[in-house]
Amino acid sequence: MSLPAPRRGSMVLLIPIALILAVVAALFAWVGGWIGNKNLTPQKMMDTAQASGKQQPGFRRAHSKGVCFAGTFAPTPEAAKLSKARAFSQPSIAIIGRFSTPSNNPYAPDNTAPVRGMAVQLKTDDGQEWRIAMNSFPFFAAATPQAFQAMNEAGQPDPATGKPDPEKMKAVLARYPEIAAFQAWAKTAPKSGSLGNTRYNGVNAFRLTDPQGAERMVRWSMRPRTPFVALSPEQLKAADADFLSEDLDRRLAAGPLKWDMVVQFAAPGDPITDPSKAWPDTRPETTIGTLTLVHAEPQATGPCRDLNFDPLTLPDGIAASDDPILHARSAVYSVSFNRREREISEGKTANPIGQNGSAR
Ligand code: HEM
Repeated sequence: MSLPAPRRGSMVLLIPIALILAVVAALFAWVGGWIGNKNLTPQKMMDTAQASGKQQPGFRRAHSKGVCFAGTFAPTPEAAKLSKARAFSQPSIAIIGRFSTPSNNPYAPDNTAPVRGMAVQLKTDDGQEWRIAMNSFPFFAAATPQAFQAMNEAGQPDPATGKPDPEKMKAVLARYPEIAAFQAWAKTAPKSGSLGNTRYNGVNAFRLTDPQGAERMVRWSMRPRTPFVALSPEQLKAADADFLSEDLDRRLAAGPLKWDMVVQFAAPGDPITDPSKAWPDTRPETTIGTLTLVHAEPQATGPCRDLNFDPLTLPDGIAASDDPILHARSAVYSVSFNRREREISEGKTANPIGQNGSAR
């Protein structure tokens, strides 16, 4: 018995369904990192970062050493004119956050850290959430996830010598010259003696949408009210392994610490999707709020330990740019979060309290 031939009408119906299935499959593949980039996946980026130091189970795969903080964010009246996000109209928002240093060793001495990080979570009364993670560098090391991955791979020790192969790094620098600019900055940038007097930069661009629907591309930063003081190389060498958190405790015991949150506006032609290029200092800026810190506590017992400061957790009124680093960050932070939370739930994490006293 022969089957009836499909009717023309049902074939026409099947085509859109097949198209939808193909788009869904492509989306899964993209999220999984299998397309758009031959071999680079968030997992691969994470494995490379994880292999480059004294990683400890249960800790972040980067920025492992850190301390939780709490305080408030109060927007300026100008902020509400730039974005309809509730964070810019609610008079004051309770925040929690985390300071960190970038190594994946949670016991790394603070005087080896070239960079300091600040992450903030703002939950507004309309149920929306904004998570921010910034660093003290003025621009990022790489323009693309591929360049960042190449840099990290070249920095891995060669099994034959136990040291990174300088020829590999030379080849990477020739291919991605922006990395050399970052290395030069890291070598010469003064190291602050305090988390409280450091400026933290968002470096990735975001789109603000105002109440009338107009859009502006910005980069944000937290500018400390406490004047920056650099440590001399001698002071740095002599500094305690945990001098950053000790200094923070001392300062907060004396009173709150404040930062002005400032947005810088892109001019036509500014690199929106390349965080390795700073925009000129001459671009207009507006202060959009004040961050006030009143309390710090160890991450082992604080509310920041089990948070993923995913920079794509954004409220209505703030949207991501097409910067590929921003999107890679979100995917990689999720892998790091899942790995560390699994280790914690399986009881595999070291108890950070009391071990060298340093994993705060
Ligand atoms: C492709 C580039 C990047 C990769 C692969 C990467 C990777 C990571 C990973 C794996 C974590 C730990 C996440 C967790 O377990 O919760 C992390 C944390 C962090 N990253 Fe990145 N990162 C990148 C770029 C950046 C940039 C451009 C900035 C700053 C502007 C930044 C700032 C931070 C900060 C401040 C933290 C600590 C957040 C916290 O306290 O939980 N990262 N990063």
